[in-house]
Amino acid sequence: MHPRVRDRAPEKNKTMNKTIIEVKDLKKDFHVGGGIVRALNGVNLSIVEGEFVAIMGASGSGKSTMLNILGCLEKPTSGIYILDGVDMAKLNKDELASLRNQKLGFVFQSYNLLPRTSALENVELPLFYNNKVKSAERKERAEKALIAVGLKDRMDHMPNQLSGGQQQRVAIARSLVNDPRVILADEATGNLDTRTSFEIMALFQELNSKGKTIVFVTHEADIARFTSRNIVFRDGHILRTEDVKDRFEAIEMLKNLPATDDDKDAVADENNAVGTDEKKIA
Ligand SMILES: Nc1ncnc2c1ncn2[C@@H]1O[C@H](COP(=O)(O)OP(=O)(O)OP(=O)(O)O)[C@@H](O)[C@H]1O
Ligand SMILES: [Mg+2]
Repeated sequence: MHPRVRDRAPEKNKTMNKTIIEVKDLKKDFHVGGGIVRALNGVNLSIVEGEFVAIMGASGSGKSTMLNILGCLEKPTSGIYILDGVDMAKLNKDELASLRNQKLGFVFQSYNLLPRTSALENVELPLFYNNKVKSAERKERAEKALIAVGLKDRMDHMPNQLSGGQQQRVAIARSLVNDPRVILADEATGNLDTRTSFEIMALFQELNSKGKTIVFVTHEADIARFTSRNIVFRDGHILRTEDVKDRFEAIEMLKNLPATDDDKDAVADENNAVGTDEKKIA
């Protein structure tokens, strides 16, 4: 609605109050064997444009299921999901795919980059689904996104020639390349050491300050303090919602953090072009 949103300061974002995500009495059942797992059990939730929300809760509480439904990767069993004024239940498969590509960006714990494919080509991928974007523009937009995440000099690297943090930056660039309204992240810092996690949170905070709405799943309380609102799930429903007071500023916290051994390892890996697969923890 506001084309100038991206240029606004975060304080001003708070004055915008357009609801971008609205969920009413959402339920999700999984049928396994003879039984039913009720992963979501009546969730009501509103997220306003420009918010940076953390979805928290213990393992199995329904966080990823919630995010997957918000990302239109899964359909709810019942209930209503309205994204930017559109009722998701009313769309056919193609409309849903197109809306997802246009409005949502995804970042996952395990980066989900294509191997043997350069950073640049990985970031270009979502643009292949948009036939209005021709090859030259595709490259230009992907380069711009990679520059925005601080990877100007890594565009031709393959994923296994990048540190974990750099791979996650590529994934974030890929999530940005269509200029989505909302970024959905599931445990995006889950595979990263503390310093690299804070660097990634600094990047998310910067994107949020430029107007991006972010929904960030994490089970780590420290990470959730970089966001502006925490929504805590338990057994498939919202236990409580709290505004974050004294939000952590990742840039400031990085200044006080010494370089870790993990950072040195990452640099060494990069120099040796060694893959980081063995560092990944499921
Ligand atoms: N595809 C599936 N089939 C069957 N059950 C599922 C499926 N996906 C999730 N579940 C179940 O639904 C519940 C919620 O799972 P979900 O993945 O949303 O939890 P989570 O909060 O993301 O946990 P974690 O922190 O471990 O990632 C769990 O009990 C899980 O076992
Ligand atoms: Mg999960």
